[in-house]
Amino acid sequence: MNLSGKTVVVTGGTGFLGAYIVRELERAGATPLGFGRSAYDLLDRAAIEQMLASRSPDAVVHVAGTVGGIGLNQREPGRLFYENAAMGLHLLEECRISGVEKVLVAGTVCSYPSETRTPFREDDLWTGYPEETNAPYGLAKRMLLVQAQAYREQYGMNTIYLMPVNLYGPGDNFDLSSGHVIPAMIRKFHEARNAGIHSVTLWGDGSPTREFLHVADAARAFRMALERYDGAEPVNVGSGREISIGDLARTVAGVVGFDGAIDWDAERPNGQMRRMLETSRAKELFGFQAEVEFERGIAETVKWFETNVGSS
Ligand SMILES: NC(=O)c1ccc[n+]([C@@H]2O[C@H](COP(=O)([O-])OP(=O)(O)OC[C@H]3O[C@@H](n4cnc5c(N)ncnc54)[C@H](OP(=O)(O)O)[C@@H]3O)[C@@H](O)[C@H]2O)c1
Repeated sequence: MNLSGKTVVVTGGTGFLGAYIVRELERAGATPLGFGRSAYDLLDRAAIEQMLASRSPDAVVHVAGTVGGIGLNQREPGRLFYENAAMGLHLLEECRISGVEKVLVAGTVCSYPSETRTPFREDDLWTGYPEETNAPYGLAKRMLLVQAQAYREQYGMNTIYLMPVNLYGPGDNFDLSSGHVIPAMIRKFHEARNAGIHSVTLWGDGSPTREFLHVADAARAFRMALERYDGAEPVNVGSGREISIGDLARTVAGVVGFDGAIDWDAERPNGQMRRMLETSRAKELFGFQAEVEFERGIAETVKWFETNVGSS
């Protein structure tokens, strides 16, 4: 799809990833329309219908979602399942009815089965049940892949599906009760350093591994896929670098300037033990490779936090 002059609705355009996608699409010459819940509540099917009728998009990038770290997933599995499934379900159906040319749906690494061999290959997505701490969220997202593939088969609708790994970067959610691991660590180390506290306690035992992708890289992958990929198969979007939570904590503490002890609360869940995506499909199908170097991305995120959140 040549994006020049195209109108692209970005659901979740007011959120972390969505805002980067809006800027990325602008740079590609498109007219992106980024919306949050207050503009069109995607849990209300009539609002979706109205959005598509009044904006007449050529393409829709569906990034809206109800997301958070392990804490939120454990407290509100029902809401996470319902809202992620319902938003996508009705949006895809309304896109079909109104004849949107192309739809891109954001999936997630949380959809992979808990016992998947590492690195996770797209073909292993259906080999088991997801890790219990995020299964309702991960399965709701998986259902949207089923819907996208079924609609392609029956109606010829061009819907593509990307599965990003854990994202981080400036603009992330730094709320300790709902945010992901990197912003939570940045906030905890920052607050301990400022208060002169000599130890910080983190969830789990530090041994699980994760892969992180800078949000600007993720937005570039979404733009490239919109331009160059028209297939049915889901595609991983990652950085190809695996890091233990313990090493991550030491890296973040170093950048923040916290030199106290890092304690682990092993009563709290670790989540899935290893997480890393196999990323060759994205490179082969639409030429995407991550570019932001991890330590630089963390430094940039810490700086953003200290300027925009930490001092408030
Ligand atoms: N962050 C990650 O590490 C990560 C990793 C893999 C996949 N993903 C996927 O990427 C997507 C974006 O994640 P994010 O971190 O950018 O999330 P986010 O910052 O929490 O943003 C969520 C967006 O969805 C919108 N939204 C929520 N409920 C809505 C509703 N009922 N109707 C309309 N809009 C609604 C929000 O609008 P308001 O601003 O109005 O609330 C916001 O714009 C999600 O689909 C998620 O599954 C994220």
